Amino acid sequence: MLLDLIVGARPNFMKIAPLIREIEKRRATGLDMGYRLVHTGQHYDRNMSGSFFDDLGIPEPDINLNAGSGTQAEQTSGIMLGYEKLLMQKKPDLCVVVGDVTSTMACAIVAKKILVPVAHVEGGIRSGDMTMPEEINRIVTDSITDYFFTTSETANENLRKCGVSEDRIFFVGNTMIDTLLSSRPRFIKPSLWDELQLAEKGYIMLTLHRPNNVDDAANLQRLLHEIIYNAGGLQVVFPVHPRTRKVLGSSADSLKSLNLYLTEPLGYLEFNYLVERAKAVITDSGGITEETTVMSVPCMTLRDSTERPETVTMGTNELLGTNPYAIAPAMQKLLSGNWKKGSIPPLWDGHTAERIIEIIYKLSL
Ligand code: UD1
Repeated sequence: MLLDLIVGARPNFMKIAPLIREIEKRRATGLDMGYRLVHTGQHYDRNMSGSFFDDLGIPEPDINLNAGSGTQAEQTSGIMLGYEKLLMQKKPDLCVVVGDVTSTMACAIVAKKILVPVAHVEGGIRSGDMTMPEEINRIVTDSITDYFFTTSETANENLRKCGVSEDRIFFVGNTMIDTLLSSRPRFIKPSLWDELQLAEKGYIMLTLHRPNNVDDAANLQRLLHEIIYNAGGLQVVFPVHPRTRKVLGSSADSLKSLNLYLTEPLGYLEFNYLVERAKAVITDSGGITEETTVMSVPCMTLRDSTERPETVTMGTNELLGTNPYAIAPAMQKLLSGNWKKGSIPPLWDGHTAERIIEIIYKLSL
């Protein structure tokens, strides 16, 4: 059995790594399963892509489609053309896509049209917000997916509502959490820890990259100012995504003088070292809300909706919305010690990849 494993952008790497590890492990005991690791090249900077391969022990991609940056249509079409060429040379038995980035949708479409069945890891989640490119990617991908590997009961329910039959839904848990739990003993203290003299629970981590928050420069400045002024004097550590960096431009230098420390995007092991020890995380990422829930770190999400509701109903996450003035009361709650404790959602136990590979092996492909 040959699988294509598709990765493209930063959040894909931690979702695919445990699948590769599990296939390798089982191949060593005789499992007849091969794979091609296909990198679309949607993310290409070392600190957005290559460093994750090193940190997570992912082998070099077998194929790189080198799609690069561009508009949504440019990226989608570039990836589709590249992946179609590959499939014309050799078809796998199953195309495995993960998450909700443009590469996920583009490769799923190509595979399905060329009659290769599609498996979607993290299928079924929905934010309901059609202004997010990821929501469109999720809906399109799921509309042509054959096998759904889901992270939550809400995802299962969303799929049922779309008419997906029960025998195609596999509630297996979260491969991103497999990676988190297996990497936790290897987290690395970044050099900025000593530089800034950080202490456990003595600083806040910030990440922002969603178009809604960062594409308007004035809005981004307002958000940053509200965070800085309400942080109760705590240092705010801000690894800046390339998209956000572009919008900040030269204003990044003036912000540096306040209690805001801007740095390049960090590697996986360094970033999570900081998250695990932070007083709180402020973010607009979806994946980080899952990681903070598992590590019991208070998380404030600067979005109006989430496709991961269990991080709010069970975990440590709260949705603040995108209004910068929602930050002050949330920070007061945090600093007065009144943030909720949270619990870990079912099956986020570090064994999801084992379940997925076992199920794929048993599919009659
Ligand atoms: C993508 C995903 C988003 C995910 C995020 C994580 C989509 C629609 N969005 O958003 O779900 O949370 O990745 O980072 O797939 N750039 C670089 N170097 C890189 C990559 C990007 O400089 O290695 C710059 C490019 O100029 C690009 C911009 O960052 O225009 C945004 O990159 P893009 O891949 O379009 O989307 P992200 O915002 O990263």
